[in-house]
Amino acid sequence: MRPLDEDSLLSVSARFADFARTEAYGNSDQYDTWCRAVAADREVCRLIAALPPQKQQPNLVLAATRYLGVPAGPGEHFLTWVRENWDAVTEQILSRSTQTNEPGRTAVQLTLLAQIDGPIALIEVGASAGLCLYPDRYSHIYDGDVRVDPERGPSPVVTRCETRGDAPIPTRMPEIVSRTGVDLNPLDVNDPDDMRWLHALIWPGQPERDERLDAAAAIRRAEPAHIVAGDLNEHIEALVDAVPDDVTAVVQHTAVLAYLDQAGRDRFFGQMSRLNCHWLSFEGLHVFPQIDATVPAGIRSDDDRFVVSFDGVARAFASPHGTRLRWL
Ligand SMILES: C[S@@+](CC[C@H](N)C(=O)[O-])C[C@H]1O[C@@H](n2cnc3c(N)ncnc32)[C@H](O)[C@@H]1O
Repeated sequence: MRPLDEDSLLSVSARFADFARTEAYGNSDQYDTWCRAVAADREVCRLIAALPPQKQQPNLVLAATRYLGVPAGPGEHFLTWVRENWDAVTEQILSRSTQTNEPGRTAVQLTLLAQIDGPIALIEVGASAGLCLYPDRYSHIYDGDVRVDPERGPSPVVTRCETRGDAPIPTRMPEIVSRTGVDLNPLDVNDPDDMRWLHALIWPGQPERDERLDAAAAIRRAEPAHIVAGDLNEHIEALVDAVPDDVTAVVQHTAVLAYLDQAGRDRFFGQMSRLNCHWLSFEGLHVFPQIDATVPAGIRSDDDRFVVSFDGVARAFASPHGTRLRWL
């Protein structure tokens, strides 16, 4: 086991405090309370610090507790429950990863996809359960009252996005003729355990996201996509090359490339520059410095620190789940 020094305890504590302040606060009172309780508790910090570094993510630790049925309640009760159930929590943490699949992100992707004429082969790397492959099957409401529905009529999946700047709010749906994905560990919407994990990844106090997940999974079941298991860098070239000449290949991803090391990101950037496809990236600031460098001078950051880019050029900042979009 790795030696646990003061630094590793402090870094777990700081990480949970930071997650409470920058992510949970205002979005999930329960996670805010629990993360602050963890940050202040040496014993639970010590348990978490003994995990491999990539498994110390607050989102993963918290989802594991919720998967196992931790009851809602005050921070002290949460800490007691975690100490008593740590072996089971560890087992879940070590065997799973954060694979949150958020259909709300498609509202952002749609602003760019809807500008592409003709048939599209949509290819998603890091697709999780594949729920972001169906932007044209969901209804989207921009700025509270501008609504775009699928051609078949309103969808049970509704996304909401507030925009700033001159965002190209879609007036039509793209013509998506094929949906393909690749993921290290594709989640199966027909597997009750995978669905339970996807629900555990949704933060407490967000019932509308739970409902939307179920509705999106039903759409996914009715119209299956093809998801390959494996590393995105190993599969992307073959997936793009398989697209017929008269169809436009679009490779998209959200909240994925941060999980790759620098060499993996550079390799993917190179493939996107070389392959015959459009590239729609929706990733945190600093994931691709090459893309960050295309943000107009004077606007280097935003409260919402995800960068939306098309073919390597930054177009917008957005909130991680796609509820806010600031066009550049
Ligand atoms: C946070 S989830 C995001 C899922 C989805 N893109 C969304 O926005 O809803 C990240 C996903 O990327 C996958 N992933 C991480 N590294 C990968 C890699 N090297 N190759 C393929 N998939 C990867 C994970 O398995 C996980 O499903």
